[in-house]
Amino acid sequence: MILEAIEKRYSVRHYKGRPVGQRKLAEVLEAARLAPSGCNLQPWKLVVIRDRAMIRSMVHAIGGQQFVEQAPVLIVACINGEGYNIGDRFDGAVIDIAIALDHMTLQAASMGLGTCWLGNYDGNEIRALLGIPSENPVVAILALGYPDESHPHQPRPRKALDELVCWEKFTG
Ligand SMILES: Cc1cc2nc3c(=O)[nH]c(=O)nc-3n(C[C@H](O)[C@H](O)[C@H](O)COP(=O)(O)O)c2cc1C
Repeated sequence: MILEAIEKRYSVRHYKGRPVGQRKLAEVLEAARLAPSGCNLQPWKLVVIRDRAMIRSMVHAIGGQQFVEQAPVLIVACINGEGYNIGDRFDGAVIDIAIALDHMTLQAASMGLGTCWLGNYDGNEIRALLGIPSENPVVAILALGYPDESHPHQPRPRKALDELVCWEKFTG
């Protein structure tokens, strides 16, 4: 069942004008709320934007990616709380936020909604627009809405499993 949602999900870059109802939005956000995190810190804050004028004014900050304007919802994920490291090296909050956002993309796909991760943005510009304090770095943005299926999408290729996985010992 989960694999079905995983297979269904793709980066949606054409959205219908149809708004996302509050109940569906709540289910997508619930998927983030239930995500695991290091020490169960849940170190994120999700800023949900539905205001059309605000979404329009965010396009410039999101690398000028015009399709973003069509999305009825943007979810801006910021770090919230004390930082911590994984393996003394990697920023745990960033990993936690990636998991929470991925949960949302899969829940959305399972309900016929589309999402697109947006990593190309200017964090300072986003912060200024949304009043996000500097101690809450923006980690990623998710566009959410109903896919406009009149625009066919070409699935992006994936590496073969044996390029990505090795068994028992590392092999190059
Ligand atoms: C961290 C991250 C940042 C991304 N940033 C953008 C972005 O700014 N704009 C965009 O159109 N797609 C963005 N993507 C989507 C990727 O291009 C896409 O996931 C990848 O090409 C695989 O295609 P698929 O999602 O359709 O399977 C991003 C994906 C990730 C995971």
